[in-house]
Amino acid sequence: MAIRRTLRLAAAIAVALLALASLAAADVYFQETFESGWEDRWVKSDWKKDENMAGDWNHTSGKWNGNPEDKGIQTAEDYKFYAISAEFPEFSSKDKTLVLQFSVKHEQKLDCGGGYVKLLSGQVDQKNFSGETPYSIMFGPDICGYSTKKVHVILSRNGTNHLVKKDIPCETDQLTHVYTLIIRPDATYSILIDNKEKQSGSIYRDWKILPPKKIKDPNAKKPEDWDDKEYIPDPEDKKPEGYDDIPKEIPDPDAKEPEDWNEEEDGEWTAPTIPNPEYKGPWTPKKIKNPNFKGKWKAPMIDNPDFKDDPDIYAYSNLRYIGIELWQVKAGSLFDNILICDDPEYAKKFAEETWGKHKDAEKAAFDEDEKKREEEENKDVDSDIDDEEEDDTDADSDGAKKSESDAKSESDVKEDKEQPQEDKEKPHDEL
Ligand SMILES: *[C@@H]1O[C@H](CO)[C@@H](O)[C@H](O)[C@H]1NC(C)=O
Ligand SMILES: *[C@@H]1O[C@H](CO)[C@@H](O)[C@H](O)[C@H]1NC(C)=O
Ligand SMILES: *[C@@H]1O[C@H](CO)[C@@H](O)[C@H](O)[C@H]1NC(C)=O
Repeated sequence: MAIRRTLRLAAAIAVALLALASLAAADVYFQETFESGWEDRWVKSDWKKDENMAGDWNHTSGKWNGNPEDKGIQTAEDYKFYAISAEFPEFSSKDKTLVLQFSVKHEQKLDCGGGYVKLLSGQVDQKNFSGETPYSIMFGPDICGYSTKKVHVILSRNGTNHLVKKDIPCETDQLTHVYTLIIRPDATYSILIDNKEKQSGSIYRDWKILPPKKIKDPNAKKPEDWDDKEYIPDPEDKKPEGYDDIPKEIPDPDAKEPEDWNEEEDGEWTAPTIPNPEYKGPWTPKKIKNPNFKGKWKAPMIDNPDFKDDPDIYAYSNLRYIGIELWQVKAGSLFDNILICDDPEYAKKFAEETWGKHKDAEKAAFDEDEKKREEEENKDVDSDIDDEEEDDTDADSDGAKKSESDAKSESDVKEDKEQPQEDKEKPHDEL
């Protein structure tokens, strides 16, 4: 017994050491959990300040959370632009895996706004960081109305921003979610949400950074004798004898000459005609599979003469800043646990240790909050009904209040359409 337990303990220790060893191997370029002192590491931009449109950040764990001590930074005010960034020792991702990870919780039930981060290269004036500042990678969720609910992955190359061609849906609830982007030196990538892979593939294929490696041969022609008819009329099928003699219409067998029919006055009685149930239309032979069917003709693929490989398509040579630059109609997006490293395993563990540890408690806190809110709302409805019964003037003033808030939500919608659209189109226009 004792020996077996010791062995088991030894095995457990070995596993733990192995895990630590692999963690120790990771290069961590930047890791931010927003403990005290975060304000010394982050620079708030002056962008939009003179127009009084620059939003501030709250250092908070939010209205619902799994641990009130675990704070991040949250967009604090509605209808504001946000721009904040942090610097880290410059590094190149050449020959390395690049992992960019962060968590975001949209407590405000985000209806239109970004929840993404940007990696910037070279020299950036952080006080002047803005929507115009060139970036290398933009990654994270973006929500606007019903149509936009996706994870952006924009890779910038030689001054051009390239959007991922795949549609990657983002989370839309009001809980914390972890977004992970992995770019490997073999030019493959993975996108994870909450440590689960949602998309993966090749940068060559899923971005239009370089022209395609292979194209359809533009000079190829379908051979004359290529049979691409899948079905043909059955040559064995013969028209049955007498088929064409079947009339389309026949006299109604149920019709009877009316009793008061006068042949002298009305002429000879004939029964009205009805469609003949035996009549099946013009004869066509039945169709059979064509034994000579060769499939649909496709032009053969050839090497694209316009393709010039860039073996460093995945690499960024002087990454140096992480930034958050957003427009928000409704504030409340809480960012936390930002990580830039070269090891997906490390990132996975980091997510488990942070988000993973608190997510259930956060969900419970959220459900509790929702329940309270619903109860409050029901109480309001009840007292509204009481008011109406007791006093007409009260009901009137309630109505006035309501239409006021209606008007506000309408202007919200308008803002949604105008402001962010312009902001949102930006990456597209740069294409
Ligand atoms: C940020 O903090 C201020 C001051 O406590 C508060 O009034 C505001 O509602 C907070 N913002 C959000 C989005 O919770
Ligand atoms: C701030 O950034 C903008 C856009 O990138 C640029 O045009 C402008 O020159 C910068 N201003 C300063 C003072 O660097
Ligand atoms: C970027 O520009 C460099 C230098 O002109 C070139 O070698 C490289 O192939 C370009 N890469 C892409 C992805 O366009």
